[in-house]
Amino acid sequence: MFFEERWFIISLVGFIFMDILILILIWLGAAIMVANIVLYIIFSFRMRDVISGGVKRDNVMLAVGLILIVFFLVGYIYVAIYADPSIVTAFILFFGSIFVSLAIALLNILINTSKQRSLEIAQILISVIDSRAPSLQGHSLHVKNLMTVFYKHLPRHLKGEFNEISLEYAALFHDIGKLELPIEILNNEGNLNEEEQEIMRSHPQIGVRLLRPIKSFDYISDWILFHHERVDGEGYYFKKADSIPFPSKMIAIIDAYSAITMGRVYSHPETYEKAIEIIKENAGTKYDQELVDIFVSIPKKEIEACTPNLENIKHNIK
Ligand SMILES: [Fe+2]
Repeated sequence: MFFEERWFIISLVGFIFMDILILILIWLGAAIMVANIVLYIIFSFRMRDVISGGVKRDNVMLAVGLILIVFFLVGYIYVAIYADPSIVTAFILFFGSIFVSLAIALLNILINTSKQRSLEIAQILISVIDSRAPSLQGHSLHVKNLMTVFYKHLPRHLKGEFNEISLEYAALFHDIGKLELPIEILNNEGNLNEEEQEIMRSHPQIGVRLLRPIKSFDYISDWILFHHERVDGEGYYFKKADSIPFPSKMIAIIDAYSAITMGRVYSHPETYEKAIEIIKENAGTKYDQELVDIFVSIPKKEIEACTPNLENIKHNIK
């Protein structure tokens, strides 16, 4: 009798434990699936950049992926509520949700790695272009590095509007149009006659044309086209403050900082302090006041760390 009672209690505890374990596995798995959907949506938004965005096929694939994950979650909840799942089913569902998490994480890592490689290749190509004119060496890379830091210091509401990778590409490629300019003009930038100035002013347009074959670059072409605009409307295309794309206004500031501190054929390299002073003086006329305020508030150490190592660049393009 005593033995039967003990066995009954052990069985009861076993059943209760099993039911609790099934419940934990099922609902923990469901929570992971909901988190998976949120992560997948964030991941899909991050894909909308100049490298992986804007391609119809990719958008269709992302939508199919989302439908599959939602379908899995609906099936999951149906089984959990109506099918009285066994411990085996609970384990399969739980590990299914873990598998989906791992698949999303792996996809994210693979895409980010390939983006990083693309950016590195682009940096080497741009270094070659910059090497045509001694005063431009390292300039595009410098502007790209400054963009990374500038983006980091933008207020949250502005960060959400623009994609970091797209901004970095626009910064790196902003002067690509100079590739087609005569070398004499590039090497005599400070002393150009009217006709030569007109040719120099064509470089943003040439840049947009050169990048046109890359469909996803459409997204950043206006940013490059208008990087010499001034907020007072006295720039290359006489666009005024609100009609200038926000990223072009960012490039205008960091382009100036780079030109002042790295020096040009017509000017000696200046210090960080001098560059900040010049940029502040031109806030509200050349540059957007709000963006200047953000830029000058970035710690000097972070800005100076953006200066590329020219020896490495020379070594890479040898
Ligand atoms: Fe430019």
